[in-house]
Amino acid sequence: MEREKYYITTPIYYPSDKLHIGHSYCTVATDAMARYKRLRGYDVMFLTGTDEHGQKIERIAEKQGMSPKAYTDKIVVGIKELWKTLNISYDKFIRTTDDYHIKAVQKIFKQLYDQGDIYKSAYEGWYCTPCESFFTEHQLVDGKCPDCGRSVEMVKEESYFFRLSKYQDRIIQYMEQNPEFLQPNTRQNEMINNFLKPGLEDLAVSRTSFQWGIPVEFDPGHIVYVWIDALSNYITALGYGSDDDSLFKKYWPANVHVVGKEIVRFHSIIWPAMLMALDIPLPKQIFGHGWLVINGGKMSKSVGNVVDPNVLVDKYGVDAIRYFLLREIAFGQDGNFNNEALIQRINSDLANDLGNLVSRTVGMIEKYFGGQLPEKQGGTDFDADLEKVATQTTEKVEAAMEKMLFSDALIELWNLIRRTNKYIDETQPWILIKEEDKHPDLAAALYHVAESIRIISVLIQPFMPNTPELIWKQLGITDEALKTWDSTKQWGLLSKTLKVEKGAVIFPRIDMKKELEELELAIKASQSTSIANQAKEEEKAQEAKSADEPEIPEEITIEDFIKVQLKVGEVIASETVKKSKKLLRNQVKIGEEVRVIFSGISPWYTPEEMVGKKVIVAYNLKPRKMMGELSYGMILAADDENGNLSLLTTDKADFPSGSEVG
Ligand code: ME8
Ligand code: MG
Repeated sequence: MEREKYYITTPIYYPSDKLHIGHSYCTVATDAMARYKRLRGYDVMFLTGTDEHGQKIERIAEKQGMSPKAYTDKIVVGIKELWKTLNISYDKFIRTTDDYHIKAVQKIFKQLYDQGDIYKSAYEGWYCTPCESFFTEHQLVDGKCPDCGRSVEMVKEESYFFRLSKYQDRIIQYMEQNPEFLQPNTRQNEMINNFLKPGLEDLAVSRTSFQWGIPVEFDPGHIVYVWIDALSNYITALGYGSDDDSLFKKYWPANVHVVGKEIVRFHSIIWPAMLMALDIPLPKQIFGHGWLVINGGKMSKSVGNVVDPNVLVDKYGVDAIRYFLLREIAFGQDGNFNNEALIQRINSDLANDLGNLVSRTVGMIEKYFGGQLPEKQGGTDFDADLEKVATQTTEKVEAAMEKMLFSDALIELWNLIRRTNKYIDETQPWILIKEEDKHPDLAAALYHVAESIRIISVLIQPFMPNTPELIWKQLGITDEALKTWDSTKQWGLLSKTLKVEKGAVIFPRIDMKKELEELELAIKASQSTSIANQAKEEEKAQEAKSADEPEIPEEITIEDFIKVQLKVGEVIASETVKKSKKLLRNQVKIGEEVRVIFSGISPWYTPEEMVGKKVIVAYNLKPRKMMGELSYGMILAADDENGNLSLLTTDKADFPSGSEVG
């Protein structure tokens, strides 16, 4: 019988010399899904890769005195090493610099041009001549080039455009008829209401201002710009547009493209439009996951708050890190990365619940039966419930996995782990051993625990690929038939006469206080900028958060006043907010950190006026949800009797951001 196909992808990553735990999150989640499907018997194709073209790469390479290709070659080695460290079981790794990809993209571009879906026109934008680059209004800093600070001019550049607008109605219709297409569901409404319904503009898909990209074959000087190059990877990787497209025929359409929420728009609008133009079926699903955040800001290299996955893996092992990422953050939502939460999870879920279950079980079989469990004869009052919980867990895990709810799947699994621990406390083997006639019951009880551990060890495979082997070794499980997914649906498959062998503790407990310090130092050492300030500020903010909010008296003491932390911030980006007349969404740089702060000043300040301004920020204000996003602090303004606003600022315009006010 032919196996069902399952094609799953991660985004292709920009080759950055430091992929952080945020990138790893996306890949680990996709890997868990791929492993799960393989265990379920699917013929899986798991694709990942790198997105190597563009001006940014061209520049970095030049600075390092290398060709762009030599530069990305070097970076890709590091990325592949990281995926190996994290046990990422990809089937194919595509580089957009691969020959077959380049040829296929040229073919796609030509076809779209020939059939009228791509046409030549001009692209307008702010241009910085020394930097040879275009910027949008929003990207400018103080009206100047964000890279070099020099003046920019409005320039037109010849460019090819893709007729995105033509596909708008078909995409809306498709989304409405296929509610499963874009997940989680809220993202679909966001796309329809914020982008599709207001109307799509045609998309500039070529550039002439830099060279590092795929040349447009029929118009030298133009290179294919970003999205046509990048998105096509999902089909070129399967041989689409090459002499051998058998993999494409076999695996397309993809079952799911897993992507971060900031690129959902490209995947759910541009990509479907491209595929419609090429007359190729759409992927079955786009899953937009949330971000790993630190202090409310996205973890990213430019902010300097990245956590290096290698540091974490070196300290705690890959399975602990994978477990944390998949358990702590509900897939689809943002999640805070926090050292304390990580160690807490390792201690309670891994060392205490799982690790302890295995070691106490093996320990008891050794102690009471010399490592050789005799055939079970008796039984206890608690058997039926454990058997029921154990055999029902698989179905629950499956239901969660089908929705990519990794966290829910792990919660179900840990319910079984805790139930099994409880079973030991209920049956009290240490009492049973004392009476000779209870020994058959004792053997039966330990058999139950061991069988439950077998089921657990099989079900954790997608999430923690190394741990099952360690458990099997201690329980003496060698028969492959006992390790299959379906074998977990049946109770009692473990051999009646079990031989165990105690091994090392699989998850040692960690001394939280000592470790927190060490971990922070290790992370700090791996970062270019210091995280120590952030941690300090986090602590301060935490203190402020936990203090009860008192009623404001007529007069306050100096102690009350200094509870409010005021700081100088510099607005580095600002934009209007759809659906709000008053709000601006600002990115404010406060020292090393960048925060998102909404403020209701739109009638008095344009985003352009905001950028570059030094403002005073109420820094330790509890974050508030505004327009579906958290706002971290408040920008202070004076308010006259007519409600007109005027921003507070520092008298000396060049006063550094991050300075304390008070
Ligand atoms: O966007 N938390 O590449 P990229 C969670 N080349 N996910 C994060 C994250 C964080 N802090 N930081 C990054 C690109 N990611 C394009 C994709 S696909 C045809 C082209 C995720 O290297 C991010 O959300 O900037 C995205 O899904 C992935 O890493 C690659 O990001
Ligand atoms: Mg990105």
